Amino acid sequence: MKAKTVKRNWSGKTNTLSFSSVFLICIFFFLGGYFCSTLVFHSQEDENGIRPRPMTRLLEKSAKEETEYNLLRAGESGDDSITSIPFQVLSWRPRALYFPNFASSEQCKSILNMARGRLKPSALKLRKGETKESTKGIRTSSGVFISASEDKTGLLDAIEEKIARVTKIPRSHVEAFNILRYEVGQRYASHYDTFDPAVYGPQESQRMATFLLYLTDVTEGGETMFPFENGLNMDGSYDFEDCIGLRVRPRKGDGILFYSLFPNGTIDPTSLHGSCPVIKGKKWVATKWIRDQERKKSRIG
Ligand SMILES: *[C@@H]1O[C@H](CO)[C@@H](O)[C@H](O)[C@H]1NC(C)=O
Repeated sequence: MKAKTVKRNWSGKTNTLSFSSVFLICIFFFLGGYFCSTLVFHSQEDENGIRPRPMTRLLEKSAKEETEYNLLRAGESGDDSITSIPFQVLSWRPRALYFPNFASSEQCKSILNMARGRLKPSALKLRKGETKESTKGIRTSSGVFISASEDKTGLLDAIEEKIARVTKIPRSHVEAFNILRYEVGQRYASHYDTFDPAVYGPQESQRMATFLLYLTDVTEGGETMFPFENGLNMDGSYDFEDCIGLRVRPRKGDGILFYSLFPNGTIDPTSLHGSCPVIKGKKWVATKWIRDQERKKSRIG
């Protein structure tokens, strides 16, 4: 009996409300469908739309961050998400920072493969009175310059973008990547990345910071060294081939960043650094020099 009443109520309802309710239901589903589709569209855009694919892998954002921060509306050249890239301050003199797992193991391998087969002996900018012969042994690695635009996979582009985020210096200030290989016994004696005008003459642009991305683990040796860290060993007795001071062990995927200029633009003497000789294994590193002036078209490496 009860079931019958229910049935009758149902049919009665649909009969009397038929036109307006069908209309409302239609509108409801139309609007619901519209909102769902925009949600799906936006999340796809985040993942694949604006940025090239490797970017999303490099700048992963966790669900936690999405809910933890109440983001502001960014400017036209800004981001709609939080970037968090962990780092450790290695030293304030020079300003040196360590970025664990800056790139993945596969990304390192891809970069290495791009450079392999194109390597030439690394060059040295000569000072007055120096010759190729007199500077032999100072820099014994092999290397190649590859610009982000040369790499059609978008990987170098994504790495360069990530470097711009940690340095806060726009990409218009960077040189092409210099991919370097050090084999057993090879090294780079201590040097500055800046070109002191007192020694090299007037410079129209200065290297202000350096980012190193280690592409391989090195079994033994090959550390990046800062012999003058915190003012140590600066009494004039330092032998530029000695591997002393703050030493950073290369680990695949890790990055380090250091500044060669003080905030006032003068050269930081503690930014002296070198690459200790490789004792066992091979060292591959992608170097990115960042300049204080924007790149001119003619200077693109
Ligand atoms: C620039 O800054 C450094 C470090 O703060 C300081 O030692 C140096 O005297 C400054 N040089 C000039 C010219 O202001």
